[in-house]
Amino acid sequence: MMKATNTINLIQLSTDIQTNNLFLQDIDKGLSAVQKQIPSVYFYDKKGSELFEQICNLDEYYQTRTETKILKKYSTHIANSCTPDTDIIELGSGSSTKTKILLEAFLKKNGNATYYPIDISAKFLLESSKQLSNSLNKLNIKPIAGRYKNGLEYIFNLNPHTPKLVIWLGSSIGNLSRHDSVIFLQSIYSIFNTGDKLLIGMDLKKDIKVLLEAYNDNKGITAAFNKNLLLRINTELGGEFDLNLFEHRAIYNKIEGRIEMHLISKVNQNIFIKALDKSFHFEKQEYIHTENSYKYNLKEIDEMSKKAGFKFEYHRLDNKKLFSLNEFIKI
Ligand code: AVJ
Repeated sequence: MMKATNTINLIQLSTDIQTNNLFLQDIDKGLSAVQKQIPSVYFYDKKGSELFEQICNLDEYYQTRTETKILKKYSTHIANSCTPDTDIIELGSGSSTKTKILLEAFLKKNGNATYYPIDISAKFLLESSKQLSNSLNKLNIKPIAGRYKNGLEYIFNLNPHTPKLVIWLGSSIGNLSRHDSVIFLQSIYSIFNTGDKLLIGMDLKKDIKVLLEAYNDNKGITAAFNKNLLLRINTELGGEFDLNLFEHRAIYNKIEGRIEMHLISKVNQNIFIKALDKSFHFEKQEYIHTENSYKYNLKEIDEMSKKAGFKFEYHRLDNKKLFSLNEFIKI
């Protein structure tokens, strides 16, 4: 008999971000600013998500394999500390590779589990959900394409009373400013019921050389990931960026405690963008600020969780203290 393959129904929430309109507006605003900038959320079209997957497999990018190690070590403990009816929700699930470790622990304990991955990239989400469902066929998987907050609200409206474990891996929170992280954590806290948990991966402050290498890899994948923003402007908005005339750069801003990614113009140039019917001037060496990736120490993490209202439960670290998986609970 043929094995029935699970059909996956993707729930598509309407998102402002997918309309080209918002992309257009943000590009216009960002390239018109004194310090040119593009929000890092625009990295993740299909190509960008694929490039990010490649970054995760780089030797220099210690984050992914370290978080994987931590998950392997603690998944059973995490699964055992949740009741069997817990809904597992993931923010920015990407390929769900790391989450699989945790899901396997839940399946081993309870025989089944319900998993809601939320991701902005609908195509990528559907593909990875299909793959995941083929390898874990006891898993009830309900992918939601949309923004984190809308996805969370959707799930909490759907199942207001089941216990929730929200996971947010990979130090994605690092893209938010320290202030905005607290605001975002507060919004999660306010939607939570008592007992709901947040499992959050955060990159730690460390030797600057190690940090810099992670964002300046030898193979130039991070550079391609960064430049993909320009490619998107070219293909989606009729931009005329010559990718060879821009250079990738990543620096560590010690005062802010963050990695910054830039795209530097190698020459004095004007770039026409058809959809805006407008040109943007770049001085030689002028740069677009494309990403912030904040790094934390344990004290900062405790303070953040407290400010958002959570009771802090655990810091789980690797033995080199490169990365942290933190558990916050609403009591
Ligand atoms: C997905 C935001 C955690 O900041 O390390 C990787 C993105 N940028 N290499 C990070 C990223 C360049 C990544 N986050």
